[in-house]
Amino acid sequence: MPVKESGNICIPFLLNMNVKATTGTDLAKAKEYLQAGQLVAIPTETVYGLAANAFDSAAALRIFEAKKRPSFDPLIVHSSSLEKARSFLKEVPAEAQRLANAFWPGPLTLLLPKNEKIPDVVTSGLPHVAVRIPRHPLSLQLLQELDFPLAAPSANPFGYVSPTTAAHVQEQLGDRIPYILDGGPCEVGVESTIIGFQENTVVVYRLGGMSIEELEPLCPDIKLMPHSSSNPQAPGQLKSHYAPRIPVISGNLRDLLTRYNKEEVAVLSFRDFYPGIQQFTLSPSGNLKEAAQNLFKALRELEKLDVKYILTEQVPDYGLGRAINDRLARAAAK
Ligand code: TXA
Ligand code: MG
Repeated sequence: MPVKESGNICIPFLLNMNVKATTGTDLAKAKEYLQAGQLVAIPTETVYGLAANAFDSAAALRIFEAKKRPSFDPLIVHSSSLEKARSFLKEVPAEAQRLANAFWPGPLTLLLPKNEKIPDVVTSGLPHVAVRIPRHPLSLQLLQELDFPLAAPSANPFGYVSPTTAAHVQEQLGDRIPYILDGGPCEVGVESTIIGFQENTVVVYRLGGMSIEELEPLCPDIKLMPHSSSNPQAPGQLKSHYAPRIPVISGNLRDLLTRYNKEEVAVLSFRDFYPGIQQFTLSPSGNLKEAAQNLFKALRELEKLDVKYILTEQVPDYGLGRAINDRLARAAAK
């Protein structure tokens, strides 16, 4: 594959040597790698992304390789403003513009018709591109300084939980990328809400960091289609997308604990503490925002334990709770 290089900074990665990514806050370095067609992990308010030049099909292909992501699962394209994004969009419907004005930068991704500047590899051949403006100062500045947008899926190997710290990225993709831009722990902790437009209806394809309750005042007609493995509009929404290494069983925790051997399980609870059991409590005060921030870290920590099962429960099903429940259900899906 042809590779654009800048100096010799990317050579160890081109040779696929077992080197670790550098982690830091050096925007100039991140820019240099991205301009050379290389991958850089970037912080966003939702989760860390694995970024490459969205106008460069060879660079975008490298994302699929590094993540071992199937080519039918398209990438979200990040920009620093709606005005900049217009350069690669065919049109921005009035409804989309209203939502963009209200919620960007923020955890909302809009499916919009693309023009020829976005290569087909980015959208897996679909006519729409998923676009969002992330609300993280480091990445926003990076996007402002670049003259191309960044294609960036979550920075995890395909089928694994999304990373919410630079260390999570280092652990799993550190030997496949040169640089991780460290923006601290992610403020939201679950991925963006993905929506598309069907005539006068707003369709939610993925529940995420922007809650339905926040969207409702602006969108009188919302349709939820989150489990869309059979839906060609959001091909990546496979039901078991978030499956961790240890089987996750969801239900009433007190009942589950009567049926399993306490030595063989770890508990992932919303707010309650269960004495004598290895566990992670998402938010002892019952705060859904805190629970979302902790969710993926909790799954990562629990699956390192020497247990046979992770027992979990659903959280209250409103606000960010819906996205948390969606991820827990996917983690528990066989
Ligand atoms: O919060 C987020 O959205 C994070 C950060 C890094 O921005 N990104 C993220 O990307 O979660 P990823 O690739 O892990 O999930 C994107 C989802 C996939 O399920 C994919 O199938 C869907 O968005 N998607 C992307 N482009 C699409 C398109 N053109 N049409 C339909 N679905 C699309
Ligand atoms: Mg992902």
